[in-house]
Amino acid sequence: EKDGHDWFMRKEIFEQPRAVADSLIGRRTAAGQLQLDEMRLADEELRDVDKIIIIACGTSFYAGMVAKYAIEHWTRTPVEVELASEFRYRDPIIDATTLIVAISQSGETADTLQAIRHARAQRAKVLAICNTNGSSIPRESDAVIYTHAGPEIGVASTKGFLTQLVACYLLALYIAQVKGTRFGDEIDEIMEHLEAMPGHIETVLERAEEVYALAADHAGTRSVLFLGRHAGYPVALEGALKLKELAYLHAEGFAAGELKHGPIALVEDNLPVLCVVPPQGRDHLHGKMLSGIQEVRARGARTICLAEDGDSSIEPYADVLIRLPKVPVLLQPLVAIVPLQLFACELATVLGHDVDQPRNLAKSVTVE
Ligand code: F6R
Repeated sequence: EKDGHDWFMRKEIFEQPRAVADSLIGRRTAAGQLQLDEMRLADEELRDVDKIIIIACGTSFYAGMVAKYAIEHWTRTPVEVELASEFRYRDPIIDATTLIVAISQSGETADTLQAIRHARAQRAKVLAICNTNGSSIPRESDAVIYTHAGPEIGVASTKGFLTQLVACYLLALYIAQVKGTRFGDEIDEIMEHLEAMPGHIETVLERAEEVYALAADHAGTRSVLFLGRHAGYPVALEGALKLKELAYLHAEGFAAGELKHGPIALVEDNLPVLCVVPPQGRDHLHGKMLSGIQEVRARGARTICLAEDGDSSIEPYADVLIRLPKVPVLLQPLVAIVPLQLFACELATVLGHDVDQPRNLAKSVTVE
């Protein structure tokens, strides 16, 4: 049942190319238009949406953070991302032109369910992104995009996360299509990039042994920092969460630009710092990230850099270099998170922990 793997989690990590491919099946008509089967929101309703609030917990929340970058960039609609457990208690400003997007792998997370009930009571439209057919959250939503990860058994979410990202990109592109924003013209191009992602994820998985060797080297580590910027920032947070929940290590993710506002004080000799390097591009992201990496390295950190193939500018500053396929910055989380999942899974294995059933955790959190 684990297909020869030691853990369900590892099996599920290796299923990700297929899960991403399945989540893309049937999303385009012969004429190239995007279609989302259970959208159930009319185009006019979507055109009226003037604010989107994404609510979720844990890993699903980090998928929501990536979604914010994509939706705002492609649709120019303002997006807030909020932890479901906080949302209800802050008197959020919502009305009939607010679209709530609830992201939940299980569809049963109590905080998320309560949050959508609260939003619907105030007439907001709710769209669920969910992996579990017929679960409570999609049942109580106006519309749903199902992810096609298949059952996720390992407690730590992996293929659930990647397919949530795919659903978020599809939603963003769909809204762009309906609203006719200027990025509508690029839908074809972005879809082609998305359709190439299963192959790119496969490439990352083929390099798993390098990550395993790295994990084995860190069996004595007490603390790991993760840095990212832009869409790489939620990847850093998710990478840290994986390490906390599986390897029981102190792990923290930061936006690289925040370093000098405090976290850099944590850096000491040999502290491993995992850096998600954005693709080289016309923006300043890549250069800014490089200077953050130089700063931590100058203070003794051991830099482990995830950077795209062909990026040679990173070489002088990386103590360890893990290569990622070249992809657009907004889609980079789909490949960048994979080595971090492998790292956490392998390190926990080396430490002798139960990867599929980490201590104190449950697969779906049905209490608030
Ligand atoms: C982490 C993890 C949790 C879940 C969170 C939300 O690996 O699995 O953080 O992401 O409990 O669960 P869902 O998505 O089912 O609402």
